[in-house]
Amino acid sequence: MKTRVLMVCLGNICRSPLAEGILKSKVDSSKVFVDSAGTGSWHIGSEPDSRSIATAKRYDLDITDQRGRQFSKKDFEDFDFIFTMDNSNFKDVMSLAETDEDRQKVHLILEEIFPSENVDVPDPYHGGEQGFENVYQMLNEACEIIAEKLEKGTL
Ligand code: 4NP
Repeated sequence: MKTRVLMVCLGNICRSPLAEGILKSKVDSSKVFVDSAGTGSWHIGSEPDSRSIATAKRYDLDITDQRGRQFSKKDFEDFDFIFTMDNSNFKDVMSLAETDEDRQKVHLILEEIFPSENVDVPDPYHGGEQGFENVYQMLNEACEIIAEKLEKGTL
């Protein structure tokens, strides 16, 4: 059975598609399934934001086949680990959890780098290109740690 990891942000067009693409590039796809979703519904069916696509491309990642979808309660059944990009996404996902088992699956992604500091991956949607590069760097570091833990079975 593959381990299943879900990346969650608000729109599922900027941060979580990058997180999905980055983690996929660091894990064995025969052992780990990675997906992403947004808590909001605005971008269902949309391609990632062009700035996320361009940022991924600079690092040789192709995320153009991703399409936006909305997080749903069923994702608690379908995934083992749910990483949210910020505290607002964390609260929104937690509000849909029904059991302790559901709640234990949800983590703030930058806790992997800065434990217990509650740091957000900033939403780059209304900013410039530099915001996307910043998001990439944070997610790359976090996903490196997540991939190592998945490999060792310590996530
Ligand atoms: P994301 O960024 O949550 O990183 O995908 C956003 C994209 C779109 C919107 C908000 C955040 N929006 O309000 O449409």
